Amino acid sequence: MSQLIDTYGRVHRDIRVSLTDRCNLRCTYCMPSDFAAWMPSDELLTTDELMTILEVGIAAGIDEVRLTGGEPLLRPDIVDIVARINSLPNAPKLSLTTNALRLAELAQPLKDAGLERVNVSLDTLSPERFKAMTFRDRFDDVLKGLKAARDADLAPIKINTVLMPGVNDDEAVALVRWALDEGFQLRFIEQMPLDAGGIWDRKTMVTADDIFHALNPVYSLTPVEARGSAPAEEFLINGGPEKVGIIASVTRPFCGSCDRLRLTADGQLRSCLFSVSEMDLRGVLRDEAIDAQAARTEIAGRFAKTVLAKLPGHGINDPSFIQPIRPMSAIGG
Ligand code: 5AD
Ligand code: SF4
Repeated sequence: MSQLIDTYGRVHRDIRVSLTDRCNLRCTYCMPSDFAAWMPSDELLTTDELMTILEVGIAAGIDEVRLTGGEPLLRPDIVDIVARINSLPNAPKLSLTTNALRLAELAQPLKDAGLERVNVSLDTLSPERFKAMTFRDRFDDVLKGLKAARDADLAPIKINTVLMPGVNDDEAVALVRWALDEGFQLRFIEQMPLDAGGIWDRKTMVTADDIFHALNPVYSLTPVEARGSAPAEEFLINGGPEKVGIIASVTRPFCGSCDRLRLTADGQLRSCLFSVSEMDLRGVLRDEAIDAQAARTEIAGRFAKTVLAKLPGHGINDPSFIQPIRPMSAIGG
């Protein structure tokens, strides 16, 4: 099997696929509350186009697919997409990152279609704060969705939490306690400059060290070794087996072991969340002058080119850092 190796020796095995840029929440760190510049639906990859791209990627060494958005459960054929990915030759490991609003109805059908597990985004245990942070009064739907995911055994269920200064940074301990009670694995993610509303500030952001210092007086935290290419630094809580993760994307970047590529909902391949350039795959598939086999060859070449052009790191901490133009919701988390 060929391998997607970049000029720094990183082997790429994981692709994050955004299925839509739309979302039923408006998390402030992700998109402006009045965001309206959605992709026109004819610009989204069709499910057939997506399967062709994934087949080419898998033949090139991709063995893990994470479905994201926007909110991936807003894609009307999400269950069919999961089933089709699972029936590809050399089917990859498959997971999904969701805000859980539609999980109450979809958890079991997704499990039946072959989904292994879910990551759920949740930043607060307070319904009022949830409303303030997401501009939607849907906290109860998240809890219902989580319950359905547990009933459907989409496990381990991981919770992604972004702490923001003065907003929810007083909830670190309460969130960990809740996750322990509920049997979920919590991971705190440092807020990254991806909001397109320009609210991120390096000087006031809640850092991995801040989070560690908030948890440390309450829990004994033992670092788990063998992180590999996983972004989360994991700690056993009170000796384990329960764990908490901290994803220090800004203050302790893990770009050196990154094995991920990203595909936007409109069919652009990126080597990094923070890439300033993209490789057009959709255009290859829609070019009537290129037959199906030639298109696959061209897409394989574009995968290789994207990987070869990958920079050593995201450069968030460099003075010359440029924030990507697309908001997080349009890139895929
Ligand atoms: N910084 C860090 N994490 C973010 N997410 C969305 N925007 C940001 C950001 N600016 C997270 C969400 C979700 C995952 C897909 O990405 O919390 O869990
Ligand atoms: Fe939607 Fe996720 Fe962005 Fe929140 S972080 S607005 S749930 S895409």
